[in-house]
Formats: sequence, structure tokens, C-alpha cells
Amino acid sequence: MKQPSKLFFANIPTPLRRVKFDGCVFYVKRDDLTGLELSGNKVRKLEYLLFDAKKKNADYVFTVGGDQSNHCRATAIAASALELKTKLFLWGKENKSAEGNQFFYNLTNAEKIFLNKKEYQNVEAIALKEKEKLEKKGEKVYWIPEGGSDALGIWGYVNFVDELLTQTGEKKFNGILCAAGTGGTAAGLLVGFALNNLSRKVFAVNVLYPADVLREKIIKVSENAIEKFKLKIKINYNDLVILDGYDGGGYKKVWSESVELSKRFFGETTILTDQVYTGKAFYAYYDNFVKNKRSNKIIFLHTGGLFGVFPKKRFYL
Ligand SMILES: Cc1ncc(COP(=O)(O)O)c(C=O)c1O
Repeated sequence: MKQPSKLFFANIPTPLRRVKFDGCVFYVKRDDLTGLELSGNKVRKLEYLLFDAKKKNADYVFTVGGDQSNHCRATAIAASALELKTKLFLWGKENKSAEGNQFFYNLTNAEKIFLNKKEYQNVEAIALKEKEKLEKKGEKVYWIPEGGSDALGIWGYVNFVDELLTQTGEKKFNGILCAAGTGGTAAGLLVGFALNNLSRKVFAVNVLYPADVLREKIIKVSENAIEKFKLKIKINYNDLVILDGYDGGGYKKVWSESVELSKRFFGETTILTDQVYTGKAFYAYYDNFVKNKRSNKIIFLHTGGLFGVFPKKRFYL
């Protein structure tokens, strides 16, 4: 099997930390520490995507996300270090005091186009128009989809599985749980386990899309990768479990029980979770595996999101 090429800027392997919380012992895979100023799960995907952008001689990288998108921040930071210009198409409003991720959009001089919810539904068409304008001026544009989740980007988590298996060694684990937005991380895990001929549960906590939509997205991008890279595997999608009901009422909504749990988890372990992704995922982890003392065989994958904490700091304090 020929693996796609990549750049090397992630701080990996990330630690697999043993923690004790509420009388339970479990492992947290610290992918919040991958680098690019704590850019979390995006860094692994961008190693592949930006290699491709450079290979294709791009001048510009276009990508999309929320006004506090970790993916857009990570892309802007990595692209600027590679001397690529970045244009971000963002759902929401400019924050005048450049809070959280918006600080990095500005620090890296990323060009920003803010869109309302309705406009954002047509974000790809809007971006395409911009792309055409730039291409008329001779600029080459490389498109990265939402969350960096395409057949190439998910290789970050295909290879993550090898790293995890090296770290866990003989220790038997039955599954891994992560926050799921676009589903690329979960898809990479499924492909990675299948390539290793292992059946492990992937618990995906949907924070952005309804459970059925997310499931379809994960299956689609996994199958796209199998086809594109001619992988000789068949994924058993019974291993994919969407843990629904933990979005706290919506992507941008803050949920007080989740905040309280995040604060308690931080207090006991010094590991901080945000209220868009990892705090909600950890709540699901707690509810399903810690409360009933079944956590020791399920790894909690911390996917980052630290800068999302700051615009919501009033909920923590
Ligand atoms: C901190 C964090 N965790 C999890 C996710 C979800 O990852 P994915 O889009 O691959 O499902 C994202 C991005 O969307 C994120 O920023």
C-alpha cells in the first residue's frame, strides 16, 4: 500500500496519559499537544493537506469554519509558516477584541470573509467565486474542506492508530472516544484500525451535525479514502458508535453541567477541555464510562480546542 506523502510539523507522538478521576483510572491521548500553538487534531490532517498544496504550487489556501474555528486557526498558522496566503470563510461575526482563535487569524494576516448562517449554507459557491477571481489574476488556490476532512486529510488519524498501538503495546483497549464535528477524525480511526486488522469501537460524540448526518459523513469519507488509495480493507461500521445527545442544545451553546465537569476534571488532572468540542465529548465519556466504572478500556482522545475556552471564559469563572 502506498501511503500519501506529508510534511512533518506535528509534535508526535503525543503523550498517552494515565489519569485518575472520580475513582476511575483511564487513559487520555493528549492530541491537544500536537503543536502549531495547541492546534489539536487539525495538525495531523494539515501535514497531508499542506504537502499537497505545496506540491501543487498553491499561492493561496482557502478553508471554512465557524468564527471561532480551531481548524481555520490551525490552517492559518501552518500556511503562514509555509509562506502560503490564507483566505478564511467564517460563519459568524468578527470579534473586535480578537478573542480566542480570531487572535490567530489576525496574527497570521489571514484574509477573512464573515458570513451569516444563511450565506454559510452556500459557502462553497461563495468560495468558488473568490477562487475564480484570484485565478484570473494568476494566483493558484488550494481548497481545504471544512475540518480538513477529506480522503487525504483523514490520513492524519489513519497513522495516529499506529502511534497509539505502539504506545498501548500489550495493554488491551476496546475503543476510543472523540468529539466529532465533520467526522474526519473518527473516519481516520476506523480506516486505521481496519488497516491493522483490528476491531475497536470508535465512539464519536456529535457536536455539530445530527447523529444520522454525521454517521453518513464518516462512512462517506472513509469509503472515499478506501477508493482513492485503493486500500484492501472492509470496515465494519458496527464499530462506529455515535453517542448522541451531548451537544448541549447546539454547536455554539454552552451547557452548565458540561462546564462544571470540565472545571472538576481540570481541578483533578490539570487537563482543560473547551465547551464546543472536548468538554461535550468528555461529558459523554463520563456519562457512559466513568460513572459506571467502565472507563479503563476506553481511551479518551483529547482533540484540542483550548483557544475556544477564552471567548467563553465567563462560564468558567
Ligand atoms: C477541538 C476539536 N475537536 C474535535 C473536532 C472534530 O474533528 P472532526 O471535524 O475531524 O470530526 C474539531 C474540529 O472540528 C476540533 O476543533
